[in-house]
Amino acid sequence: MDRKQFVKKYIKFFESKGHKEIINSSLIPENDPTVLFITAGMHPLVQYLLGQKHPSGKRVCNVQRCIRTGDIEEVGDTTHHTFFEMLGNWSFGDYFKEDAINWSFEFLTEVLKIPVERLAVTCFKGDKNASKDKESFKIWKSLGIKEERIVFLDKEDNWWGPAGKTGPCGPDSEIFYWKDNDNSAYKKFDTENENWVEIWNDVFMEYVKDEKGKYNLAEQKNVDTGMGVERMIASLDGIKDNYLTSCFKPIIEKIEKLSGKKYTGNEKEMRIIADHIKAAVFIIGDGIVPGNSEQGYVLRRLIRRAIRYGKVIGIYDFTFKVAEPVFEIYNDYESLKKNKISILEELKKEEERFNLTLEKGLRKFGKFAEGKKNICGKDCFLLFQSFGFPIEIIKEFAEEKGIKIDEKEFKKELKKHQDLSRTASAGKFKSGLADDSVATTKLHTAAHLILSALRDVLKDENIIQKGSNITSERLRLDFSFPRKLTDEEIKEVEDLVNAQIQKSCEVVCEEMTPAEAKKKGALGIFDEKYGEKVSVYTIGDFSKEICAGPHVENLCELGHFKIQKQKSVGEGVRRIKAVLL
Ligand code: ALA
Repeated sequence: MDRKQFVKKYIKFFESKGHKEIINSSLIPENDPTVLFITAGMHPLVQYLLGQKHPSGKRVCNVQRCIRTGDIEEVGDTTHHTFFEMLGNWSFGDYFKEDAINWSFEFLTEVLKIPVERLAVTCFKGDKNASKDKESFKIWKSLGIKEERIVFLDKEDNWWGPAGKTGPCGPDSEIFYWKDNDNSAYKKFDTENENWVEIWNDVFMEYVKDEKGKYNLAEQKNVDTGMGVERMIASLDGIKDNYLTSCFKPIIEKIEKLSGKKYTGNEKEMRIIADHIKAAVFIIGDGIVPGNSEQGYVLRRLIRRAIRYGKVIGIYDFTFKVAEPVFEIYNDYESLKKNKISILEELKKEEERFNLTLEKGLRKFGKFAEGKKNICGKDCFLLFQSFGFPIEIIKEFAEEKGIKIDEKEFKKELKKHQDLSRTASAGKFKSGLADDSVATTKLHTAAHLILSALRDVLKDENIIQKGSNITSERLRLDFSFPRKLTDEEIKEVEDLVNAQIQKSCEVVCEEMTPAEAKKKGALGIFDEKYGEKVSVYTIGDFSKEICAGPHVENLCELGHFKIQKQKSVGEGVRRIKAVLL
């Protein structure tokens, strides 16, 4: 079944029940610092589940792109994916169990024409926080699901959320589909039998988990449902391997063509490559570039793991080629359409970078592994740090040689390093800048240039910095401005910043009182937060700003400046995300 047609069916059905279709948000969460990626359809909707009014009303539905990275190493079987799409319908304090369950049933049995004999459900068994969900049981039964097909399970299985560490959550009722063509076995419902696949989850969000881990009753009762598109299509097509559905097949075919090998269903390497490259395409499409922290690091791991498996099946310089069919399958995604060129470029660059160190790293690995049963955490860290080997790749190499790695010690080493670079980027540098902080320093200096460039290009003296967040990979700058910048304006800002960099101006620092700084026209927020003296950084005749951060001495150190993304982060505040290449 075609994925777009299937999605349309779902949306149309819920529109007929009074729902409005809402946007498919970016994979990068905006309001939840506790997780790196959007993991479910409800994730971008948390504030509405907590009671804020949604502009589209109380009933909404959509298809949402998601990334789950829990166990990247687990990907390789026929049903797990890093990237997937989730269909969902929500009630914000409107309908509850009765309608939610009725509509799930109606969609499955009347729209998709699934025979009721192929369905089974689970309900929440109850615990000290929430009572047994007898109501859902009753509703399912009234619809014709036989009692022996309804089981009560505990919190581990029948409770969903929160998506991050805190937030909306509640008991759920999961719907299972018997996918095997042999009908005789499906009389008995057993969630452990892999022919019973979970296809849909109806969550009754009545609770909010707080920071102390306590479940508090929510102010409004919500419904949150989620249906995995890939899994559902496979089920409807009677296919056991998701990689043979329309969501994956063209990617697998591309890998077959490049490698000259056939996919017979046993080639886990092909599945890993298809899964990881698809996820990487979407992550880059949402503005992330490969790096050593947070989302950038997940992206790096995915691309590098795909490259490593590419070598196993004998394909090289392939990531951007395998990416091509992803754009075709998902040609309804603006984020891919708009950013295709940069996505392919990023893949190519990362593959080149990894290729440079892979052979050397493998030799080093060979030395570390020689005659040993175990590779210590420090050696793993060296492979990670100097050769860019993600930990799961080290682990997989080790497994192939029948040896173990000390992952715990590796994590300790990693933490030590992260703490060091955090101290550095908190501004406590003076001498001996670590690599990370050099990158941060450059980006921080670039932030000064952007602010001035924005004021020039947009001819608005009122533009001020509202916040910034800089990692070694990229900078984020929030500034006051009421509307989206046009593509031309973005280009002008980039050009202006690059022109300044080309001039190789010195960055001059002077100490003075805030009053003097103001008189000299330095940008800053003139309030009590400044002490007696402030540092004013002047860059040619282009920028003058009060600042406490680290700066390069000369702009020639910066390289090429590029804006990757812009978006609104609230009324009158825009965010620009940029990198130095
Ligand atoms: N949020 C629920 C899930 O992801 C629907 O399963």
